[in-house]
Amino acid sequence: MEVLIAKDYNTLSKQAAMIIAGQVISQPSSVLGLATGSSPVETYKNLAAFYREGIVGFQQVTAFNLDEYYGVAPDNPCSYRWFMEENLFKHINILPENTHIPNGLAKDVANECLEYEEKIHRAGGIDLQLLGIGGNGHIGFNEPGAHFESLTHLVDLDQETIDANARFFDSPDQVPRQALSMGIKSIMAARKIILLASGKAKAKAVYEMVQGPISPEHPASVLQLHPQVVVIVDKEAASLLG
Ligand code: F6R
Repeated sequence: MEVLIAKDYNTLSKQAAMIIAGQVISQPSSVLGLATGSSPVETYKNLAAFYREGIVGFQQVTAFNLDEYYGVAPDNPCSYRWFMEENLFKHINILPENTHIPNGLAKDVANECLEYEEKIHRAGGIDLQLLGIGGNGHIGFNEPGAHFESLTHLVDLDQETIDANARFFDSPDQVPRQALSMGIKSIMAARKIILLASGKAKAKAVYEMVQGPISPEHPASVLQLHPQVVVIVDKEAASLLG
């Protein structure tokens, strides 16, 4: 696990975007794994700028997102589909049919999860996975206690996650209690991983991920076992690292 400490969120975001753009330039048909939340927002802005400036194109890229709220329609502004359209997809030339996000309205959830895994498999697997990290150490929505062997599945969100994500909703009781999320095993199958974390609220989770014991109680600690992980953090998020 390589840890890069950037001076601030903007620098971290630029570094992440440069790695992703480099991946796409060297392999235009790359399969990218993408995340939502606050952490990647500026990375996506940088990627959109690289696209506008003619530095990189996404015509042949396929994207799979980590997760989607269960019971939330894609055209709901709180959905992760909406988030991705607003923050990245509509600003670049990725083909709509190449963007994949679990269907939060799926009636047959087990089948939706299975098909999601199959789609990733048919696309050739994920070349580069972008991750954030929860204050409780989750990656995707694999909360503490998650099985390292898990594939895409329906998860119950921790209260801490519900509270943290309430900022995106009008009131905390509107935050969905469940989500469809790629599992730890699905994430670990990516060839390369970049994880972004910024701010003091992430310092403990970053410490446990990088220097703590490998344990399902700290889901991100599994990344210590992945051969190609770059963790990009700002100084605050790195403040507990020894
Ligand atoms: C988002 C996801 C989550 C977030 C994490 C951090 O698709 O899977 O694991 O990456 O909750 O969220 P932010 O970046 O908002 O702090």
